[in-house]
Amino acid sequence: MKSALVIYWSKTGNTEKVAFAVKEGLEKAGVKVAVKKPEEAADGDFFDYDLVCVGSPSLEWHPAKPLADFLKSRLSNYRTQGQVKVGAPKVPGKNALIFCTYSGPHTGLNEATPAVKYMGQFFEHIGFTIIDEWYVLSEFHGWEEGNIKGRMGDIRGKPTEEDLLRIRKDAEVIAAKLN
Ligand SMILES: Cc1cc2nc3c(=O)[nH]c(=O)nc-3n(C[C@H](O)[C@H](O)[C@H](O)COP(=O)(O)O)c2cc1C
Repeated sequence: MKSALVIYWSKTGNTEKVAFAVKEGLEKAGVKVAVKKPEEAADGDFFDYDLVCVGSPSLEWHPAKPLADFLKSRLSNYRTQGQVKVGAPKVPGKNALIFCTYSGPHTGLNEATPAVKYMGQFFEHIGFTIIDEWYVLSEFHGWEEGNIKGRMGDIRGKPTEEDLLRIRKDAEVIAAKLN
């Protein structure tokens, strides 16, 4: 049985919804899934899983600080153990899915891309394959103007049930790709 770890941070609930949709989709495809927040995953080893999924909101086009701090700390441990190697050789069977929720009120997708690329580097540096990167357009809770007049149009209510259904299905597709 394949196994996955989903680690996420969420302030207003959007990323949490996506994290659980990922979990449900993977489970439907027969993957054993653990879901954790950074503070619950401190001692875990990414190499214990076939797939590690990491999700954050984009905050000033960065991942949330608790998640970034967690990833930095894990990478530091792996470096000490000699697992950060020149050329970052791939470790067979180790995959990462990076996802972020974002509202893009000013410059759209461009203000989410750096967060996802940054998170992905922690995994590529230890030889994981980035199996996919997901950008989930989501409501900016508490900022009406940003929800209606921003670069991405009217984003109120996102992610919708339909969006979450698609994410569950996409997670099933990811599960089928695990080797
Ligand atoms: C302080 C703050 C900064 C944000 N910065 C960005 C940003 O740079 N780019 C973006 O697309 N959305 C930005 N957002 C919107 C959030 O990324 C978006 O609403 C996200 O879905 C929130 O996730 P959460 O509900 O899991 O906390 C920001 C929101 C807050 C509160």
